[in-house]
Amino acid sequence: MTITGATRFVPLLAHPCRHVRTPPVFNAECARRGLDIAMVPLDVTPEMLPATVEALRHIGNLAGMVITIPHKNSAAALCDRLTGAARLLGVCNVVRREADGILTGAMFDGEGFVAGLRDRGHEPTGRRVLLVGAGGAASGLAHALASAGVAKLFITNRSPDKAEQLAEQLRAAFPQIEIRTGKADPKDFDLVINGTSLGMHEGDALPVDPDRLTPGTVVAEVVMQPDVTPLLAAAEARGCHIHKGIHMIEQQIRLLVDFVA
Ligand SMILES: NC(=O)c1ccc[n+]([C@@H]2O[C@H](COP(=O)([O-])OP(=O)(O)OC[C@H]3O[C@@H](n4cnc5c(N)ncnc54)[C@H](OP(=O)(O)O)[C@@H]3O)[C@@H](O)[C@H]2O)c1
Repeated sequence: MTITGATRFVPLLAHPCRHVRTPPVFNAECARRGLDIAMVPLDVTPEMLPATVEALRHIGNLAGMVITIPHKNSAAALCDRLTGAARLLGVCNVVRREADGILTGAMFDGEGFVAGLRDRGHEPTGRRVLLVGAGGAASGLAHALASAGVAKLFITNRSPDKAEQLAEQLRAAFPQIEIRTGKADPKDFDLVINGTSLGMHEGDALPVDPDRLTPGTVVAEVVMQPDVTPLLAAAEARGCHIHKGIHMIEQQIRLLVDFVA
């Protein structure tokens, strides 16, 4: 693409940012649609996030911002208004700058994840789901899975209070779904999801014990780098169906571009 004086830009706010895979996919989608919009990654420390967002809101050719680890909760608090899942959960992964500099936040991690599952033939409706994680991405996934009508949602997280807080928010919005937290045995589920950052770094612990997975279970990832995480490799060896983190961003990109364009 050619950057001109008319190009609008969308920074991807991350810390660190070397692992991010969104910019080439986002820029390719803008180019495919003929949109003069470009994404660049910005490595922003948590301490500098408020000052960065405040400065960016005054940039006239800023279309919006895409937000990733570790900023999804704090970025939501910096928005002037939130829509949909972002409003319920207090997390956002995309911010649109309105003409007057007002910032509107939204959350598409979950919709992208569920669309990715469906695209690969894994329908979540009616399934028993184990979700590991209760951070920004996992919260979005939990909301979208509940919206898709899973039969049971079990949330387990290193910090149990965050899992319980997320479950409380969801129980109020989806009273018909069995939503529980604590420690779970992966063998009791049809769909097991790593919604944490475990697997990004060599030596990370596995989010679940693969020996407890039932062959035929769908095991899904949010981690995109590496493409096949140690969890996915172990699950495949155990006879499970695996679903990579990249499928989530592939489906989510069009939602992010729609929102900021
Ligand atoms: N595929 C995609 O399209 C896509 C989209 C968004 C994000 N992601 C990926 O999703 C991952 C999480 O991102 P996020 O924005 O949700 O981050 P986040 O808000 O910081 O949440 C991190 C989650 O991981 C857990 N965690 C971190 N280190 C852990 C450890 N050593 N042991 C156990 N649990 C640990 C945290 O548990 P605590 O609550 O206890 O801290 C929390 O549940 C990242 O790898 C990100 O790249 C992928």
